[in-house]
Amino acid sequence: MNSVRPLLENTVLQKPEPRQYDNLSFVNLSDKKKIIFDHCTLGYNNHAILKNINFEIFEGDKVLITGRSGIGKSTLFKSLLNELPLIKGKILIDKQLNKNNFLSNFGIVGQDTYIFSESLRFNLTLGKDIPSSRLIKVLKKVKLEYLANKNYLDTQIGDKGLSLSGGEKRKVKIARALLNKKDFLLVDEGLSGLDDNSRKQIFALLQSLPQTIIEIEHIMSIEDKQKFDQVINLDTK
Ligand SMILES: Nc1ncnc2c1ncn2[C@@H]1O[C@H](COP(=O)(O)OP(=O)(O)OP(=O)(O)O)[C@@H](O)[C@H]1O
Ligand SMILES: [Mg+2]
Repeated sequence: MNSVRPLLENTVLQKPEPRQYDNLSFVNLSDKKKIIFDHCTLGYNNHAILKNINFEIFEGDKVLITGRSGIGKSTLFKSLLNELPLIKGKILIDKQLNKNNFLSNFGIVGQDTYIFSESLRFNLTLGKDIPSSRLIKVLKKVKLEYLANKNYLDTQIGDKGLSLSGGEKRKVKIARALLNKKDFLLVDEGLSGLDDNSRKQIFALLQSLPQTIIEIEHIMSIEDKQKFDQVINLDTK
């Protein structure tokens, strides 16, 4: 659990230094293609972790990225979000996406997304002015029905207020991302550690959304894998 202060003081959120690199080329992509990884080599400090990665993502697709721990799944998200320079290749992005504020195209449920020692309302809105009725609706959507009422919205999350389980925190993070209504949702291990029932509910919810969803998961049954439009197995790349 974290207080908001480190976030507010985080220099990353203040005016960023101009980048010395750009992984992204904004071009006219045809056939509802939105993102293309074109011969990309990914890694840190020129040390390659994933070589020659090629795939295409179409609007509205549900895409699963799998592979063993440490293979580079989260690194792939970092490269797409332009947080880490590509060693080789380019990521082609459809011109229609917002170029000036590229991050604003994405809702992100990351492995290290924070839950703050603040109210449930703050954890959902991060200070934005969003009506309570919308917050209640999204809490129901992520199957946190018992929290979906006005009393809980202004209760602190933490030992002295609302103690949330790991799975419940995950649902709050997904609810936060959904409130932003972005075209793309990046989910890094959204299902791991959830009990069977919650896992099924969140899996079905993510599959039912209209957005393009890129989901990183470790464990996925063959039956569930078949529900994705595309499965990218980095172990075999
Ligand atoms: N900031 C960093 N600097 C250098 N190497 C890093 C950095 N972050 C990650 N790595 C290395 O890159 C490799 C890929 O890491 P990454 O976090 O992408 O794996 P992952 O597939 O997401 O694993 P997991 O399933 O455990 O989350 C690992 O070997 C890791 O040690
Ligand atoms: Mg990871």
